[in-house]
Amino acid sequence: MNPNSESAELGPALQSLVTRAERALQDCLPPAVHASDHLHRAMHYAVLGGGKRLRPMLVYAAAQACGEDGPALDAAACAVELIHAYSLVHDDLPAMDDDALRRGRPTCHMVFGEAMAILAGDALQALAFELLADERAGGVEAPVRIAMLRTLGRACGAEGMAGGQALDLAAVGRSLGLAELEYMHGCKTGALIRAAVRLGALVSNADADALHALDTYASAVGLAFQVRDDILDVEGESAVIGKTAGKDAADAKPTFPSIIGLDASRARLAELTDAALAAIAPWGERAASLRELARYSAHRAH
Ligand code: IPE
Ligand code: IPE
Ligand code: MG
Ligand code: MG
Ligand code: MG
Repeated sequence: MNPNSESAELGPALQSLVTRAERALQDCLPPAVHASDHLHRAMHYAVLGGGKRLRPMLVYAAAQACGEDGPALDAAACAVELIHAYSLVHDDLPAMDDDALRRGRPTCHMVFGEAMAILAGDALQALAFELLADERAGGVEAPVRIAMLRTLGRACGAEGMAGGQALDLAAVGRSLGLAELEYMHGCKTGALIRAAVRLGALVSNADADALHALDTYASAVGLAFQVRDDILDVEGESAVIGKTAGKDAADAKPTFPSIIGLDASRARLAELTDAALAAIAPWGERAASLRELARYSAHRAH
């Protein structure tokens, strides 16, 4: 039996967080009347009907670890997942990774066309910030909301996801050193995962020590998550991962397996998981979901 098979599946506590995130995402998308029907359907297609919801789970789990569980978490969970959904739509465009399969279905631009996919991404990004700014989102003081807006803005901008995506595209066909690769992955994937954890902590009014421990945890999980993504691109099957397997090698992308090999990639994954767990070791039972998410990120099958 695969020793990691247990952590490849979600336990009931995380399953309930996925259910909560799905409901919140359904509710946060705007009604059709406000947008062109085509744009509206492209936005729904990009957000609903698949996705592991890792980032919303991290928002909820970080807040649980800080002893918070209010409705404001739903806005934060949706905001971060909307940014993620937008990043995937743009990542799949012909100008970027040119992918035809996402979450086991044709990519957004294959169904709705490139122009509508670009606009759907734009609109999802705008909606994410609107949700965080909305004072009806559940009793979060204005200074905290501003800190959350700044956190998300930085995570998805030039110092975060968009910057990392630019490094990824510029690195095609080049051989990066391990430090450069980790920096790139930390920006393109890690930044949003760190933001998810921090948003949960900010809603909970976490103190500086807690924020620091959670940031250490999230940096390790964020990098581990992309290392696992790179390994799955090599080892996974399209039918299981819901994406075109082998696409990174076909596109000459610098990845963990291409730079250090599969065995060293697995070893790095184990180190990162240990680092994530160590950061929250003193937190006891209230960090149980964060622990499960660290293991899941490293061992997930898709
Ligand atoms: C895919 O993210 C892109 C990366 C950052 C590795 P996910 O693996 O979280 O994608 P979904 O949301 O579950 O489809
Ligand atoms: C994507 O990285 C990171 C994003 C910011 C979207 P990948 O290009 O490896 O993600 P997949 O493999 O297409 O999901
Ligand atoms: Mg990409
Ligand atoms: Mg891609
Ligand atoms: Mg990938």
